[in-house]
Amino acid sequence: MILSGRVTVNGEQVKTLGTLAVWGVDSIGVDGREIPAPSERVYLILNKPFGYICALKDPAGRPLVTDLVKNLPQRVYPVGRLDFDTLGLLLLTNDGDWAHRLTHPRYHVPRTYKITVAGRITDLALSKLTKGLLLEDGESGPSKTQLILRNERQSILRMTITRGMSRQVRLMVEATGFRVVHLMRISFGNLQLGDLKIGRYRHLTADEVRGTKRLVGMI
Ligand code: URA
Repeated sequence: MILSGRVTVNGEQVKTLGTLAVWGVDSIGVDGREIPAPSERVYLILNKPFGYICALKDPAGRPLVTDLVKNLPQRVYPVGRLDFDTLGLLLLTNDGDWAHRLTHPRYHVPRTYKITVAGRITDLALSKLTKGLLLEDGESGPSKTQLILRNERQSILRMTITRGMSRQVRLMVEATGFRVVHLMRISFGNLQLGDLKIGRYRHLTADEVRGTKRLVGMI
């Protein structure tokens, strides 16, 4: 398109391949029509480290997940919560409707966790986790629970839930008489943590955002 003279930047025809322009700052045109500026909405996926809290401020001065996305022009906030000592997939956004729907139990968005439990978990405990348990805040609802590894020292499970009650995974495991020693969220709806490094974030792709919106009836 550049070589055939169809592209302008700030009104000037661009003739050189590799010319740089900033989308949203420079006015970029093709065939005389300006490309719309990027959406003001921001959708981020972060690999939350241990020891960060999902809040906008903390009277105790502990690190905030928003400290990890400091250089953005938009102010974003976490979509739901992960505990201080939970790691993994956390979404951040400035789109309130999207955040609300993804976390509202009505939309049953599945969340998958990799859980390390102290000791050898029993088949009975696994079956209770699958069927669901009565917690203080109500029924947990069923889960899809898969045993990945089990020995005398520890057991590793992969569990998918769709309710997202506060501390739900830890409370479910505790209700079976076991204790969580490590917890990581590895997927949320259509989104996977993948190989995103701990403490790093990236913008969701347009396809990923569309996928989440489809899941919660926004498109
Ligand atoms: N369930 C928990 O118990 N903790 C989390 O951080 C997320 C889900």
